[in-house]
Amino acid sequence: MALWGGRFSGQTDKELTGFSESVSFDKRLYKYDIMGSKAHAAMLAEQGIIPRAAADAIAVELDEIEERIDEGDFKFSAELEDIHMHIENALIEKLGDEGARVHSARSRNDQIALDIRLYLRDAVTGICAMIRDFQRALVEQAAGNGDAIMPGFTHLQHAQPVLFGHHLLAYVEMLERDIERLEDCSKRINVMPLGSGALAGSTLKIDREEVCRALNFSRVTRNSMDAVADRDFIIEFISDLAIFAMHVSRLSEDIILWCSQEFSFVELDDAFCTGSSLMPQKKNPDIAELSRGKTARVYGALTAILTLCKGLPLTYNRDLQEDKEPLFDAVDTVKRILRLYPAMVATMRIRREKMLAAASDPALMATDLAEKLVEIGVPFRNAHHRVGAFVKWCRDKNKALNETTLKEMRETIPEATAEFLELFSPESSVAKREITGATGPKAVAAQIEFWKKKLS
Ligand code: ARG
Repeated sequence: MALWGGRFSGQTDKELTGFSESVSFDKRLYKYDIMGSKAHAAMLAEQGIIPRAAADAIAVELDEIEERIDEGDFKFSAELEDIHMHIENALIEKLGDEGARVHSARSRNDQIALDIRLYLRDAVTGICAMIRDFQRALVEQAAGNGDAIMPGFTHLQHAQPVLFGHHLLAYVEMLERDIERLEDCSKRINVMPLGSGALAGSTLKIDREEVCRALNFSRVTRNSMDAVADRDFIIEFISDLAIFAMHVSRLSEDIILWCSQEFSFVELDDAFCTGSSLMPQKKNPDIAELSRGKTARVYGALTAILTLCKGLPLTYNRDLQEDKEPLFDAVDTVKRILRLYPAMVATMRIRREKMLAAASDPALMATDLAEKLVEIGVPFRNAHHRVGAFVKWCRDKNKALNETTLKEMRETIPEATAEFLELFSPESSVAKREITGATGPKAVAAQIEFWKKKLS
């Protein structure tokens, strides 16, 4: 008979068992469920709600159950629905009435809310540590090859020369925000819901603060109805993962382009590429492509849970059981990306000469000309117009910008001096950009030092 079977006389439909069970996926919460039950039972004894001997026996048996699950020596069956009932049932099988006391002042509704919060605390810590490693790999690559000059792009058109290191550190900044968001989210995760019961709390005089301390939460939830209905913290957490995945997807797109024959800026290590079953010459950047693709799964998880919660009346509804598979999938997907990506980035070989060649079109220095004019007093909009006319003149004459004489340049830029003819090297273009946040070699080196220190 099911643990809730008292009220029932008829048999459960066979199809319902498989439809209703969640143990096939929520069993991965077992350690958290056991942790929660131990703290709960100890508190019940402390409050005189159950005998001390019962709490002690429950604690010993919970350890035993945990070991059995660790070792694959625990039988799961769909009839027992979820991980909570499996563990309670195992307690009762072993301890009889003593085990039957554990669920006093508790519902699976506050229990699952607790389990997910405990699970997410670990997930946040683990993922943040992995994102830190990802940052380290980017900084390492920037420290090794960061002084290479490449074209920076806007609209995927050559814009201005930048340092490769500057480009990589842009991603380090994004990842830093991802970590900040996750850490901020843990404030909302780290709140203790147990004691909310099914929805209305309990008539038993439990001590929620004691459980809160034992499980190392920062505070207890204030409203029992909110506590069992709330999945905001999951939505927020997956939003953070979705933004992180979007960042990885953008880097992936950059790397895929850089690996293409048209760019040829980087070559990935063989360990992180696959070939074609048909075309012998192919070496494909699959990790980057799959990470871009897997970003869709994370978005899917976010959309699923947002949609799940939309329109649910207070308080707990069984719909909420559907939160777990997308949540677990999002966590697994992000962790799998994070297990591979840093090593791929750290071992990326770059082709400086290709990067430099692409950044050497003098047209990329057109802005430098306009800024030179500003330096000698020409209003920027007029300067922009003059240099635009100069670019057009060169195009019409089929000349590169650095192939004109000063006299020719003066046809469109009357203020030009001999100095203007020296503005066309990408090296000096980046070298003049040393303000904070810009791509100058000193500014970028300082940024690399900043990150090295922060990440050490
Ligand atoms: N398996 C359920 C879930 O994941 C646990 C709570 C079940 N509560 C209930 N009253 N059936 O949401």
